[in-house]
Amino acid sequence: MTGSGSIRLVYEHPGCDTSTAWATVPREPVEAEKPELIARIKSMLKEQNAVLVAHYYVHSDLQDLAEATGGIVSDSLDMANFGYRHPAKTIIVAGVRFMGETAKILNPEKRVLMPDLYAECSLDLGCPSAEFTAFCDQYPDRTVVVYANTSAAVKARADWMVTSSIALPVVKHLKEQGKKILWAPDRHLGDYVQEQTGADMLMWQGSCIVHDEYKAKELAELKGKHPRAKVLVHPESPRAVVKLADVVGSTTQLIRAAQNLDAKEFIVATDNGILHKMRTLCPEKYFLEAPTVGAGANCVSCSHCPWMAMNGLLNLAEVLETGRNEIHVDPAIIPRAVQPIQRMLEFAKQIGLPTQGIGNA
Ligand code: 13P
Ligand code: SF4
Repeated sequence: MTGSGSIRLVYEHPGCDTSTAWATVPREPVEAEKPELIARIKSMLKEQNAVLVAHYYVHSDLQDLAEATGGIVSDSLDMANFGYRHPAKTIIVAGVRFMGETAKILNPEKRVLMPDLYAECSLDLGCPSAEFTAFCDQYPDRTVVVYANTSAAVKARADWMVTSSIALPVVKHLKEQGKKILWAPDRHLGDYVQEQTGADMLMWQGSCIVHDEYKAKELAELKGKHPRAKVLVHPESPRAVVKLADVVGSTTQLIRAAQNLDAKEFIVATDNGILHKMRTLCPEKYFLEAPTVGAGANCVSCSHCPWMAMNGLLNLAEVLETGRNEIHVDPAIIPRAVQPIQRMLEFAKQIGLPTQGIGNA
């Protein structure tokens, strides 16, 4: 998805009134424009004491720029951990809105900017806070565990926040304490965690429009053509796809698997933005995208999150120039919303999880 324009997404999730969403992908600068643009962004970051925190799914130019300027490119857990108590005055989050909100909740005194404030996530959109609160109120005996991909208001109703890299150890820990869980919003990640831990989990029925598209039958066929390839799967994918995986994990965990496994070929079932880091770190290895086509395929079957694609060099430069696109979270919500996030970060520290990114080395 390059160039400017709007794309229309149609999705339907139980518990969600919204049936359509949109994303506007910024124009990509031509190669000749880039050196001056990148130099300008670098000097504005410095002048404004700002740090760039990017996700592996955003454009490779932004990933490289984050690392070249002392920022980070990583998964959602490491993004939150890196931004927390970072000395920079301004945090620029190149990702989707829940990532910007998490940074603001953890750093309410700081300016948090995003290249585009309309960079959504279907999991967040599919879990409106009023409906979610009503759901939780029906089950007061359950510990509420929400995925990072949710709004500030949903986090404020939760006991724990988790990301895909820490969901298993957190739920295992809660199960050992005899807790019953109410899980939201990703049904596929919840299904995987339940299967792995045997915990009692009541699920909200949300899903990711990108990972929902991976097709098990076509993946098995591709694997048949590449029998030595290892299959790397993000747990937001459907169960039948997860079943075919050699490794299931967060984006950081999948990159580590690509580095560490003794294989030359990999089939990757997650947003194809991740291939930039995999190919940079493992130039001698061969990475194939897991198939999304097949019965029921539609315009979102491209293995790339339309909202992550809203981040570009041009709108990054613009927010630094204008100070526009600041993330605001209702100050009344922050004291409650910060608790499940801090609980996760403290637990991650105890078990030695946050990694501060992988880096290019
Ligand atoms: P990670 O935390 O694994 O990077 O996942 C974030 C996400 O939105 C995946 O779709
Ligand atoms: Fe949300 Fe899916 Fe995009 Fe991740 S890839 S931000 S889960 S819509």
